[in-house]
Amino acid sequence: MSIERLVRKQLHGPPRRSATRMSVAGVEDMISLAAGDPNFLLPEYIAEEMKKAVLEGCTHYCFGGDPELKAEVAKYYSKYGYKTDPSQVILTNGGSQSIYHSYAAILDEGDEVVAFDPAYSGGTMVPAYFGAKTVFAPLKKDETGFYDFDEEALKKAITKKTKAMYIENPGNPSGKVYGEKECKVIADLANDHDFVVVSDETYTEFIWTGEQHFPIITLPGMENRTIIAMALTKMFSWAGVRTGWVISGPELNDYVSRVPGSGISWPVQRAAIKALRDGYQFVLDMRAEYEERLDYGVKRLNELPGVKCPKPEGAFYLFPDITGTGMTSMEFTQKLMEEEHVRIIPGSSYGAGTGEGNVRLSMIRPLSTQKMSSWFEHKKGLMFEDAMDRIEAFVKRHVK
Ligand SMILES: Cc1ncc(COP(=O)(O)O)c(C=O)c1O
Repeated sequence: MSIERLVRKQLHGPPRRSATRMSVAGVEDMISLAAGDPNFLLPEYIAEEMKKAVLEGCTHYCFGGDPELKAEVAKYYSKYGYKTDPSQVILTNGGSQSIYHSYAAILDEGDEVVAFDPAYSGGTMVPAYFGAKTVFAPLKKDETGFYDFDEEALKKAITKKTKAMYIENPGNPSGKVYGEKECKVIADLANDHDFVVVSDETYTEFIWTGEQHFPIITLPGMENRTIIAMALTKMFSWAGVRTGWVISGPELNDYVSRVPGSGISWPVQRAAIKALRDGYQFVLDMRAEYEERLDYGVKRLNELPGVKCPKPEGAFYLFPDITGTGMTSMEFTQKLMEEEHVRIIPGSSYGAGTGEGNVRLSMIRPLSTQKMSSWFEHKKGLMFEDAMDRIEAFVKRHVK
């Protein structure tokens, strides 16, 4: 008997291990800059809401989602200039489910989804589960090592089968922010070629250029061809709590809302209401710490031979170009792990390979000067500076 006959074709073959999630047991002094799991602990006034909700009886079904949360989410979008009705908000168990839900609403067998390369794998691997194909449009690396928008490459990736485009705005791992100008190019293509944009807006609160997030859904013709896929995972540093949503225009939402869902934890919804109402200072405080880490990391990496590190426009990852070290991104990350016990992610593991030559560092380790309460112990030898010291020692040992 072959088990493979019993399971979906996409699951056949050797097991796939996510480089981000791989745990390394027994390496005591390991510093992981791998997962995008923010280190900050949730403020008590938000956490308390969950307990209060449980004690008050929010332990039953909450069909359709808590109306107060849906209203808060709608209000949140008005700050970015999109007026949405709470009925357009569908709550999910986080960003990954928002992405699944979006694709489940639009993809048929044989459809194509265009995505930038490199891009977040959780957005580009999923279309296959609906019998659809992801077609990559390479971003263009500039002389600083930054992956930028490439209109021509995007146009080339669009075919008659294109049903959707997946964009993460800001991008992970690219750090690219698509502002009004670029969103207009994408929106024109979506309108001309009649496809949907799945707009993954997970990092909207983490933009470093001084601009505000620009939601593509606000452009002409886009309201009923955009699905916003969002999560509070990064915004409130609660990757393990699992909360997100999808939003689409009223006509499209009529269909998006037909996708079966599980509903989400009601106590968590009550905490999300509190977070959205009163938690913005917490977001601002985290943002300040992230930016200090980014600036520190950019400076340290640019001092290294063979390494170029642009400051990202958004999100909280550094994505330096390490081609000058003579190592592939896989060799670099593996040797760094073996020799220095620092975990980072090879650029080749995002998308179709355009990210080769770069590596991703997640800014989840505090600097020793930072004071916000953190999931990681502030421990000598394991702070962000220590990770950078080890990376420096590693590069200097290998690059003469
Ligand atoms: C661009 C992007 N979208 C979605 C997600 C998934 O978020 P969640 O943990 O809420 O499923 C991530 C996580 O890193 C991400 O980087």
